[in-house]
Amino acid sequence: MTDTFLKTFPTDKEREKRVGRFFEDQLLPKLNKVDDNCFDLEIGCGHGHWLTDFAIEEKNTLLIGIDLITKRVKKANSKMEKRNLTNLLFFKAEAKEFLTLIPETISINNTYMMFPDPWPKHKHHKRRLIQPSFLSLLASKTLPSGKFFFRTDFNPYFEWTAQHIEESQAWTLTNDTLPYEHTSYFQDMLPDFQTCSALPVH
Ligand SMILES: C[S@@+](CC[C@H](N)C(=O)[O-])C[C@H]1O[C@@H](n2cnc3c(N)ncnc32)[C@H](O)[C@@H]1O
Repeated sequence: MTDTFLKTFPTDKEREKRVGRFFEDQLLPKLNKVDDNCFDLEIGCGHGHWLTDFAIEEKNTLLIGIDLITKRVKKANSKMEKRNLTNLLFFKAEAKEFLTLIPETISINNTYMMFPDPWPKHKHHKRRLIQPSFLSLLASKTLPSGKFFFRTDFNPYFEWTAQHIEESQAWTLTNDTLPYEHTSYFQDMLPDFQTCSALPVH
């Protein structure tokens, strides 16, 4: 989180309120229009390349992209506005905070994580987003038919994720393919990657 952001929202409570307002003011009005109570989520959407293209193809699905970095979310939002996409929202948020605060009446359908930060050093593995508690939290917010897609160029992180899913009581590995193929900013630079998918165990 940037200093400016932390100056504006200095406490956990204020940051949580901000995420709550996003659900109330931005997400719920869109869900009311599509008469549905779920959305697809990209965690760590960066500049929004992949999700913006997906939103053009997938007009009937509400898509949300979140990222920690304000500048990237701003760029993503300007892409969305230029294309007049009404089924897409980008929001600066930390993944675990965002997931925790999703209102109980709303669920995630599919979640996409494309080229997440790999944290290659052993002492930094605890910073990886994929952890047992994260997988449980994500499953608790996902529809029984909703899937989790994970893509990385970094083989050790791929193995780590497949193993964590295998050991998780909350998910089971599947052979599903991404519903939409289009390069992301990182996929353009890193053409050798692996993808895994999983279904929640409810
Ligand atoms: C390597 S980039 C990949 C961006 C994009 N998915 C792509 O394929 O081009 C990883 C992104 O994840 C974001 N990120 C890392 N940790 C995050 C977290 N805890 N919550 C939300 N976003 C996060 C970073 O800010 C960064 O933009």
